[in-house]
Amino acid sequence: MCRISSLYFRVLELLYKAPIFVKPRRVCPTPPLPPSDIKKYTVKTQEKMADTVSEQATAATASAPAPAPATPAPEKAPGNVKEGSSAAEQGGVEGSGKECEGAIGGARRDPDIKKELGESDEEDEGEEDDEDYDYDEEEEDDDDEDQEGFMSMLQNFLMSRLHIGSHPDVPQVLESVSVEGMVQYLKSGQVKNVITMAGAGISTSAGIPDFRTPGTGLYSNLEKYNLPYPEAIFDIEYFKTNPKPFFVLARELYPGTFNPTPSHFFIKLLHDKGLLLRHYTQNIDTLEHVAGIPGDKLVEAHGTFRTSHCLSCHKEYTQEWMKEEIFQDKIPKCTGEECDGLVKPDIVFFRESLPLRFFQMTQVDFPKCDLLIILGTSLTVQPFAMLVDNVPATCPRLLVNREKAGSIDPMVALLQGMANPGGLALDSPHNKRDVVLLGECDEGCAKLADMLGWKEDFEKLLPASK
Ligand code: OAD
Ligand code: ZN
Repeated sequence: MCRISSLYFRVLELLYKAPIFVKPRRVCPTPPLPPSDIKKYTVKTQEKMADTVSEQATAATASAPAPAPATPAPEKAPGNVKEGSSAAEQGGVEGSGKECEGAIGGARRDPDIKKELGESDEEDEGEEDDEDYDYDEEEEDDDDEDQEGFMSMLQNFLMSRLHIGSHPDVPQVLESVSVEGMVQYLKSGQVKNVITMAGAGISTSAGIPDFRTPGTGLYSNLEKYNLPYPEAIFDIEYFKTNPKPFFVLARELYPGTFNPTPSHFFIKLLHDKGLLLRHYTQNIDTLEHVAGIPGDKLVEAHGTFRTSHCLSCHKEYTQEWMKEEIFQDKIPKCTGEECDGLVKPDIVFFRESLPLRFFQMTQVDFPKCDLLIILGTSLTVQPFAMLVDNVPATCPRLLVNREKAGSIDPMVALLQGMANPGGLALDSPHNKRDVVLLGECDEGCAKLADMLGWKEDFEKLLPASK
């Protein structure tokens, strides 16, 4: 009993640092963080981030028309940040907090979206109250808990800290947690609102490199730009001091010179079948448009080349204007009166905020999602990556990728004190809904189309058969 007690207090000590409550996660546009690797985040960084979120949220209301941050936000700031105490928890995708409400739209919201959100805003307010938590009281009460309570708490603690998957009470929707199970679920007629999330991996077969594949990825091939670190090429602060590398790269990878891949057409097919609620893409290659997916079905989370803005006076420029500048090897400068500001395409750089539409649509879409398909992404850049946690707890999630992605190593999560690190539970013994289809995206999509009995329709969409 003595040993149990001491273990018990040790657990409490850990819990105190990082509460384990499994609550809907909140997302907020966040400040600069190392873009590439969520595993690097320390508790200290998260706290600092929460503070900066607040500053940034205030700044974002000041009408910056350009896009904003491809930076990670915690599900709720982990570590010893109390619930309800950080700006990161108070808004964002679930948009309940005043500060973040401003950042993501608030009064500026599209009225239709606002209407759809009316109910959830109220729910969120209630939820905020529920989340108040008194750690001191908890610590006192815990002294009286019996062994059973302790064991259950320990189990919850370990499940959360080790990220060992869904809670046993959450019902399983799939008959089998496999690709076959996913296909069967899709065929059953229960699926009405598919959300697809994509990254660079759906465009590599078009000849556009992804970012992080060792050897071929963009970040392995930037030596000639002499950057302090690879991501600097998309870092707004670095860009302001040295825009040349970005514009040289933009010329090389300028949208319009590539064709959509079978993966793009598979997403189009989901739309044609009336199943696609929305496609969220991190890509700026515009290939979804080219594949014929209508604009209202798209959320371009990392912005677009279609417009550009002066970083100083915010004057807007067209794609044609920017294209001409880029192809003449110029550094685009503002033509406004008495302004010599740098002009940048409205793609989201690190330390900038994501487009307002991203935050608005995620609030509307994700609660409705009944199947999430994630294609060709390493799920390392936030807040995009954490969208996988915004679907309902029962919603099946299918990853089509060369490698497993989107789960945080349980040991890393444990060591860094991350409460409920979230992500996909592909390797969890309690996994009831996450499936990976490993391999090339195009092949995975062809296989799915085949298994769904859509082979003919799929092939009709592919350019070679037109
Ligand atoms: P990454 O390069 O991080 O990840 C691409 C993923 O797709 C990797 O897991 C690859 O293994 C996989 N992959 C590549 N080609 C594939 C193929 N043909 N079939 C199947 N899988 C394939 O690219 P993203 O996840 O898109 O943001 O990167 C996210 C963000 O990081 C980008 O939007 C960009 C970047 O920094 C900004 O610059 C703001
Ligand atoms: Zn200007």
